[in-house]
Amino acid sequence: MDTIDWSNLSFGYMKTDYNVRSYYRDGKWGEPQLETSEYINLHMAATCLHYGQEVFEGLKAFKGRDGKIRIFRVRDNALRMQSSARGILMAEPPVELFEEMVLTAVKKNRRFVPPYESGASLYIRPLLIGTSAQVGVKPAKEYLLLVFVTPVGPYFKEGFKPTPMVILREYDRAAPLGTGRYKVGGNYAASLAADEKAHKMGYSAVLYLDAKEKKYIDECGPANFFGIKNNSYITPESTSILPSITNKSLMQLAKDMGMKVEQRRVPVEELATFEEAGACGTAAVISPISRIDDLAEKKTYVFCEDDKPGPVCEKLYHKLRAIQYGDDPDPYGWITVLD
Ligand code: PLP
Ligand code: COI
Repeated sequence: MDTIDWSNLSFGYMKTDYNVRSYYRDGKWGEPQLETSEYINLHMAATCLHYGQEVFEGLKAFKGRDGKIRIFRVRDNALRMQSSARGILMAEPPVELFEEMVLTAVKKNRRFVPPYESGASLYIRPLLIGTSAQVGVKPAKEYLLLVFVTPVGPYFKEGFKPTPMVILREYDRAAPLGTGRYKVGGNYAASLAADEKAHKMGYSAVLYLDAKEKKYIDECGPANFFGIKNNSYITPESTSILPSITNKSLMQLAKDMGMKVEQRRVPVEELATFEEAGACGTAAVISPISRIDDLAEKKTYVFCEDDKPGPVCEKLYHKLRAIQYGDDPDPYGWITVLD
């Protein structure tokens, strides 16, 4: 434990002391249980294994300068898990149960919350799976909600440094009326081949276009997209992207900074007009985009130099982090402080 190099954590898995589980059986959620095992005993015909009945969440806890632990927007994650569960006909965990399990998972693993100075955080991963046996394509009758945590550093290994992204028109991630708006595992399976290809070519992520017309920007593999121009924060509206809680927070912070906020369809060509661009999410925080290559169209859009994020990305990033770590006040009630 003493050997954790907090300042050099990657976005990876590390075993912690406990996870928390609740089972849904006979139409009811059971009392949350503490577990030390990292394994699940699962029926081989469980619906999560065959028909993708799996949804998850991602949120973070931060240790402040004052030593207190703060969890960011846990209620929003609970509500989004409910929406995802409804989307693929799974039992919806009550908000209070989700919140209680997240808080317990963090409290019981407090020694894994990275110190303030490291700039790292504790990633919280709630997972909901269909567990009962089914061979016909039907929803399960039983579910498991599990929350584990793991200390993490930046998702993109460069941290808050601009990276290049790529449009690969030969791949889609989610259909317009499909599951892109839910946080289901299948969306990530659908992104693996394109992501791998992008990484091999030296890009940090794929920027997906709308699958139907290939005209509008959807989102990056693990994060929403935003562009900045003329004092406006512009981010795509689409039925096939995940409603990012980080993006929602940045829209509020941009407004507070006197910027105009536009959530609307964003045509690919508009990339040429942005002064800055970024990817945002719990794991990604803000990852400034240095350039976007649209390979099939042989077009390149440049936003900044490789080592210098734009001023608006920089300002938004520091403001968000200041609220998360408790350096700045929390005017919107986004933070739950652990006792
Ligand atoms: N889009 C996708 C596909 C994601 O996986 C994530 C991560 O959760 C996001 C966007 C960002 O969402 P949030 O800010 O709620 O983490
Ligand atoms: C998150 O930001 O929480 C994500 O889920 C992104 C990725 C790790 C899947």
